[in-house]
Amino acid sequence: MDAIRLLGICGSPRKTGNSRFLLERAVAAAKETAPDAVEIEVYTFAGKEIAPCISCFRCMEAGDCTTEDDFQELRDKWVAADAIIYSVPVYHMGIPGQLKCFIDRLGNSLYSYYGGVISRNLKTVGVAVQGSHIFAGQEQVMTTLINHAVLMSCVPVAGDPWQSYIGAAGWTRNESRKDGLRRLYDEGEADAQIAVAAAESLGKRVVQMALVIKGGGLIHRDMLEEDGSYTVFLSRLASGNQMS
Ligand SMILES: Cc1cc2nc3c(=O)[nH]c(=O)nc-3n(C[C@H](O)[C@H](O)[C@H](O)COP(=O)(O)O)c2cc1C
Repeated sequence: MDAIRLLGICGSPRKTGNSRFLLERAVAAAKETAPDAVEIEVYTFAGKEIAPCISCFRCMEAGDCTTEDDFQELRDKWVAADAIIYSVPVYHMGIPGQLKCFIDRLGNSLYSYYGGVISRNLKTVGVAVQGSHIFAGQEQVMTTLINHAVLMSCVPVAGDPWQSYIGAAGWTRNESRKDGLRRLYDEGEADAQIAVAAAESLGKRVVQMALVIKGGGLIHRDMLEEDGSYTVFLSRLASGNQMS
């Protein structure tokens, strides 16, 4: 069986920062879990331009979102991935606007991109999130991205209890430094230890579940081939392990 493709998506406009730190811990744990069975690529929103959906619905005929910017590059990476880990900062108790723009356009254009097929995408999706403050939107962000996963016929995965209920969450004790979480972790601060442990178990479980799904898809290929909504999933399984 080919390796699964794990795409880490850093939803921060900062190239290095707290989201990136958590993401790196998650993908390192993923690699450690299955060194020969996972190919990893990390994508960052830093420096990217992804405009909002303008509700033109031209994607329905065009087979693609007709606004051309960095959306298409990330869409292609998203489509190729077997597993995705989002690591994002809390913005105003929600997800950052750039990420919301991507999700809106992905959700609306993917049906026509796949040639009018409703696709059971079956990617595993894990979510890591952190903000400056405690009880300041982390759960809301995780819920938004888990809803996105369900809406995209993906499989949300959490890390291990008790550090991770529905994802990995952290905070930087009221400061906005890029290295806030890393410094707290290095100092042994308890909540930062929890955030990192949660990110690591998240990476591990996201990869394990993706391997289970891939193996199951290959075993049950004959049955799934009879249902057109698995066509995209099955062709992804057959497409080897090179990230686009
Ligand atoms: C526009 C904006 C809104 C923010 N809103 C929140 C918030 O609602 N809750 C919170 O805890 N932190 C909030 N923050 C702080 C960031 O989540 C925090 O600095 C985070 O560590 C940044 O992550 P990064 O280093 O990956 O960019 C906000 C920051 C910005 C720039």
